[in-house]
Amino acid sequence: MTDAPLPRPVLASGFDIPANVVVVDHPLVQHKLTRLREAATSTAGFRRLTRELSLLLAYEATRDLPLEMEQIETPLEPMTAPKLSGKKLCFVSILRAGNGILDGMLDLVPAARVGHIGLYRDPKTLQPVEYYVKLPEDMAERVCIAVDPMLATGHSAAAAIERLKRSGANAIVFVCLLSVPEGLRTLCAAHPDVKIVTASIDRELDGHGYIRPGLGDAGDRLFGTR
Ligand code: URA
Repeated sequence: MTDAPLPRPVLASGFDIPANVVVVDHPLVQHKLTRLREAATSTAGFRRLTRELSLLLAYEATRDLPLEMEQIETPLEPMTAPKLSGKKLCFVSILRAGNGILDGMLDLVPAARVGHIGLYRDPKTLQPVEYYVKLPEDMAERVCIAVDPMLATGHSAAAAIERLKRSGANAIVFVCLLSVPEGLRTLCAAHPDVKIVTASIDRELDGHGYIRPGLGDAGDRLFGTR
């Protein structure tokens, strides 16, 4: 008897995953995500799991970084070994929940630069409005990894990436824990050149803009402001 295959982390039926979207289908990621979703998970647990998941997603987000060879000496003999070459990294947090992702990413790449973009939604136009932007000056020289745990409507993410491009960034990856088809469609239409890394494509957005089944408000759960 063969075991039935485990469901892939795509809960949205009938959604064709765009070519620039990577859904990280790894047992550790999926297990930690399940614990993160649970309403009973404490603030401390939520932070720890977000940090661990971020490190694992950063591993996938940095998969295409170029390497070059260098000559080193091991204790036993000389060898030619690979090292990172070319562009350095910049992590950009989309405030405020993006800050929860930074710690795990910085565990993996402690020397990365960090930028912040704050946006709110204008209640009349419903369009994202910038209230804070602080980025390194040399964005054109860096691979930029923009982070927000939840890709919901996709409007904030698309606006943040637009702002990054205006600052000179030309190699951008977007990382989120959860996404929905609507947000992915919006972001892919606005920025087809951006690779998107997510741990799940959830079923849908509800009428209040929450991802379902989701995990609730990521910012409130990270910062204990519920
Ligand atoms: N932002 C959140 O924090 N949660 C959602 O479900 C959607 C957007």
